[in-house]
Order: sequence, then structure tokens, then C-alpha cells
Amino acid sequence: MHDFYSDTKTKPSRAMLESVLAAEVGDEQKDEDPTTLALCERVAALLGKEAAIFLPSGTMCNEIAIRVHTEPGDEVICERSCHLINFETGGPAAISGVMVQPLDGTNGVFEPNQVVAAIRPLSRYAPISRLVVVEQTANMAGGAVWPLETLDGVADTAKEAGLATHMDGARLLNAAIKLGVAADRLAAGYDSCWIDFSKGLGAPVGAVLAGTKDFIARAWRIKQRSGGALRQSGVLAAMCLYALDYNVDRLAEDHALAAGIARRIAQLPGVSAVLPADTNIVIFNVAEDAPSAPEIEAALLKEGVIIGAFGERRIRVVTHLDVDPASSDALCECLARQLG
Ligand SMILES: Cc1ncc(COP(=O)(O)O)c(C=O)c1O
Repeated sequence: MHDFYSDTKTKPSRAMLESVLAAEVGDEQKDEDPTTLALCERVAALLGKEAAIFLPSGTMCNEIAIRVHTEPGDEVICERSCHLINFETGGPAAISGVMVQPLDGTNGVFEPNQVVAAIRPLSRYAPISRLVVVEQTANMAGGAVWPLETLDGVADTAKEAGLATHMDGARLLNAAIKLGVAADRLAAGYDSCWIDFSKGLGAPVGAVLAGTKDFIARAWRIKQRSGGALRQSGVLAAMCLYALDYNVDRLAEDHALAAGIARRIAQLPGVSAVLPADTNIVIFNVAEDAPSAPEIEAALLKEGVIIGAFGERRIRVVTHLDVDPASSDALCECLARQLG
């Protein structure tokens, strides 16, 4: 199978699995797991923050960050297509008791003046604008990269108004590689930020959330409360450390593959639009007179190619460690049969 559904589909390589055998482990809840501690220290430095916490998933990073930054009745400003709104089962409302105010960005990216317009004046009646969240890269906008100036502008605007800032950095390292700008610089204006190891970095489990020492101490309480505190988590952290050593620079290969796929898809008559493929995600729309996205998904599955249909007319294709140019050829040839 050529699986382009998501970069979460990667399986750990033998070398990554072997890194576990050498890992020293201990009780994570008691700060006794040296491998997890080393990972947290390394990610804190990578993101330019004081401290970090290992968590099972990126969703938990977002939800814990919101819980720490807000009080019930507050409002979180973020982009309409973001993971937080669409794929976290209403977590901000259910876990933190907050509202979200969605902004309409351009390819997932909103501007400082939109934040200014969204911030509510203090009033007895209104929710309190408390937190601005950005998603770098913007997944459902085709892995779109936030430019550094926009990230800084949004963060400065939020800070001036007294709001906290959080970066969903599930694919921050894709952005860093694409822009040639260090991750800590991209995250500089953000009070909290995390990276995911189970996406393009190729590890099976794990995400690390970073912030100030105080923020991380508060995050730990929520991790413990929600059953996310672990024991010998070094077996997972070892694979994340391996990913940092070996799988970061190669993200450029995923980007090149995605750009090639986007170019080929754009030429098919049955394709009505392709979003700019900045990194490793290609999102395109199929024309009204072409087969629907679910029909194409089903037809490709029969030919051993997995893609993602999002609604009737939209398809997502994601490149990662476990697909290569031959997979890309198989994908493009199958799509040409459906949409050519
Ligand atoms: C932008 C973004 N944020 C958060 C997540 C959640 O990460 P996880 O699957 O590790 O919970 C995802 C997962 O696809 C994502 O794409």
C-alpha cells in the first residue's frame, strides 16, 4: 500500500526501535526517567523555552496548554480550520470551559489586524479574550507555513493587549526546514509551543510541550489529573530523540515530493484547485463534474493507494518517511485515471 492519508501513518524504523534497547528508563512521574528528562531538556532548548513536558499526544499538548492559560468563560482566538476547533471533540469547551472565536485566515494564516478586531473590550457581559493560538504549519490549509513576520506581528499584538500566546507546532519543524529559520526563533513570541514526534518525524508516540518553568509545573498537574503521567516513558522518548537526530533535515525530501505531486495534480482536468503545497501536505478540490472525493478515495484504495477525502470535493495527500518517488508515481497515475 502507498499510504498518503497522513504523516501519522509512519511506522518506526528498525534503527529507531533499536534505540530503545539502549535507553535508560525510570519512573517518569517521579522525574526518574533519564531519557524522558533528556528529551524534555532538548526540546525546551530547541524551542527556546525554560522547560518542557512529555505528553502522549499533540491533542493533549493543546488541551493542557489551553487549560493552563485560561479560566472558564474566557475566549480563545484561533483560525477556523485549525485542529483545535475541528478535531479535538470540543476539548476547549469540555475541558477548559472556554469559547473559541474562529478567524478566517488566508490559507490558515491570519493577520495582526484580525486579532485586534477580535479582541473584546472588557465588559461585564462579554467573555474575556485570553489566548491567541496559531498552528504552524496550518494542516487543513495544505501545510501552509506562517511567515516569521506574521507570527511575530500576531504575538506582539496579543501581548500588547495582555493576551497569552500558544503555538500548535505539530509540524513546526517542517516550517523551520522550509523557511530555513530556527524553531526557537519561530516560536519566540509564543508563551507555549509544542512539537509532535508521531508525524513527519516518524516516531510512533509522543509530543513535547514547552514554556516557562511555572507553566510546565501547572501543566504537570493537569497531566497527572488526566492520567497522562507515565512510568518508563524512556522507551518512547528514546525514539523521539532518535527522530531529532535523524529525521529532521530529511523533511525537505517530503516537501520536495509534495511539491512534485501538487504540480502533477494541478494539470489534471478534473482538479479545480490545488492549495499551495508549502511543505508535506497537498490539498486539492475535484471539479463538480468529476467523481466525488469519497468515490476517488474508494477507487484508489482498490489500487493500493490511500488518500483522505475531506467532504465531497476535497482531498488531502500527505508525504512522509514511508512514501517515496515510486509511491508518488503510483498516486499520480491512479489520480490521472480518475481525473484525467
Ligand atoms: C495541526 C495539528 N495539531 C494537533 C494535532 C494532534 O496531534 P495528535 O494526533 O498527536 O494528538 C494534529 C494531528 O494531526 C495536527 O495536525
